[in-house]
Amino acid sequence: MQNKLMALKEKAIQLIEDADSKDTLEKIRVDFLGKKGEVTSILKGMGALSNEERPKMGKIANEVRGAIEENLKNAVDGMKRIERDRKLKSETIDVTIPGTPRKLGSKHPISVTLDEISKIFISMGFQVADGPEVETVYNNFDALNAPKNHPSRDMTDTFYISDDILLRTQTSPVQIRTLKSQEPPIKIISPGRCFRVDTPDATHSPMFHQVEGLIVDQEVTMADLKGTLDLFAKQLFGSDVKTKFRPHHFPFTEPSAEVDVSCFKCGGSGCRVCKGSGWIEILGAGMVHPNVLREGNIDAEKYRGFAFGMGIERIAMLKYEIDDIRLLFENDMRLIDQFK
Ligand code: DAH
Repeated sequence: MQNKLMALKEKAIQLIEDADSKDTLEKIRVDFLGKKGEVTSILKGMGALSNEERPKMGKIANEVRGAIEENLKNAVDGMKRIERDRKLKSETIDVTIPGTPRKLGSKHPISVTLDEISKIFISMGFQVADGPEVETVYNNFDALNAPKNHPSRDMTDTFYISDDILLRTQTSPVQIRTLKSQEPPIKIISPGRCFRVDTPDATHSPMFHQVEGLIVDQEVTMADLKGTLDLFAKQLFGSDVKTKFRPHHFPFTEPSAEVDVSCFKCGGSGCRVCKGSGWIEILGAGMVHPNVLREGNIDAEKYRGFAFGMGIERIAMLKYEIDDIRLLFENDMRLIDQFK
């Protein structure tokens, strides 16, 4: 019996050593130590032994059982450790592997230009005002002193939503909104979208952007307007450009002017950008008409103001030498990606 037990012990230990999974180890446990296991069945046969033999064999049998149990336990622990190590290894993140590159978006040239213009005026102390794209006829035309028969009011030029509501044709209605909602001194710019009935071509788009500017205070002169816009042009196009004011007419300003900047490309000698003239028109401006101040409930005897308005597409096209406005709205990434 003793030999049998020893042989079982050897066999079990060998099997445990060769086992490659927890399931196999469990099977070994059942085969040897289970109710119907080999060691168990030998122990069952102990009844037939003599009184002297029985305790001796019992001791050996318990040792064999203990040895198998211990080997099993070590093997299970070892397996658990290997499994944990494998798991840790497979779940480790290698932080030194370079990430998957993502394509970064870029700002649209209109936004780039708008930001640049806004930044210049903000640095001069202007605040940014906002106004709706769907406007009243009153704010877009009447309050801005536009005569009842002004051609821009035509349905062939303006998108009407109803008799008294339209898509604003200019950012100038923000002047009226600001005059009515703020007390002087007023110093705002207002960038935004405008709409006009136009068939798209190289220089026209039914939707475009403008930046409006307005200052109202007690001591505001045409010289302030010239100084402000000259500084603006120098910051936007380069410190050596010059500005020129040409008399013009706008219903909401008196006097009114169109402002040209000397060509930043050729320095004034004439090139493709300035169409040979040496000068480029960039904006409209003037002293706020007293009728407009009055419409905004401002005392026109006490206060004066100046205003200006410019097209963003035009400035972007000049600055970045884009010769067709439609390119700005086709969202061709080859153009937009240049503004990274
Ligand atoms: N609203 C004018 C336009 O759309 C631009 C403009 C000119 C705005 C003169 C002004 C201004 O504020 O004083 O053509």
